[in-house]
Amino acid sequence: MKFFIDTGDIAEIRQACESGMVDGVTTNPSLVANSGRDFKELIREICTITSGPVSAEVLAMDAPTMLKEAEVLSAIADNVCIKLPLTVEGLKACKVLSSQGIATNVTLCFSVSQALLAAKAGATYVSPFMGRLDDVSESGIQLIADIVNMYRNYPELNTQVLAASIRSPLHIVEAASVGAHVATLPPKILYQLYQHPLTDKGLAGFMKDWEKTGQKLV
Ligand code: E4P
Repeated sequence: MKFFIDTGDIAEIRQACESGMVDGVTTNPSLVANSGRDFKELIREICTITSGPVSAEVLAMDAPTMLKEAEVLSAIADNVCIKLPLTVEGLKACKVLSSQGIATNVTLCFSVSQALLAAKAGATYVSPFMGRLDDVSESGIQLIADIVNMYRNYPELNTQVLAASIRSPLHIVEAASVGAHVATLPPKILYQLYQHPLTDKGLAGFMKDWEKTGQKLV
């Protein structure tokens, strides 16, 4: 499973990439706003930190303007992935970009039918939002599983399922268990994945015993 990091914070992205666990970055207009940075400058800097796909979202509501925005964003770096909303206009733009070989991430997916349309539009990634579905008492993991299963019926579809709106380590474990290709994680969740009290306890015990040897390895 690939991990993308879901933030517009440069320091967080640098630190997460240094862990060796990060395969790309996703942003959205809210994350860009939180960063307080100029959008294009921010995406440019992120693309110098990772060579993996960096999702940058269009702001227009109509396909022709989305395509103009995509041109501006794609010119920033080779690894920019154009993020488009799951709307009629977003998927029109997705189809054009896909036919030009430009990577796309169709976002705000909340149903299997939407995911089918994204795949038909040639999306590189489709982003079902787990946390936001859980928030309204619908099962985020069930949606991920249903999309993965539906895509398996059509091996000619190349769209990867990108589990988004991740709120806990359990979301990652569940998404991996049902075969999501990618998950995009807020940095906090990435570090939570490492944590286990028995690891801490075991390591403390080993170090205490090691001290008794009086040895040093380096
Ligand atoms: C996905 O690409 C989105 O940026 C993100 O996962 C949204 O998550 P949220 O529901 O925590 O805002």
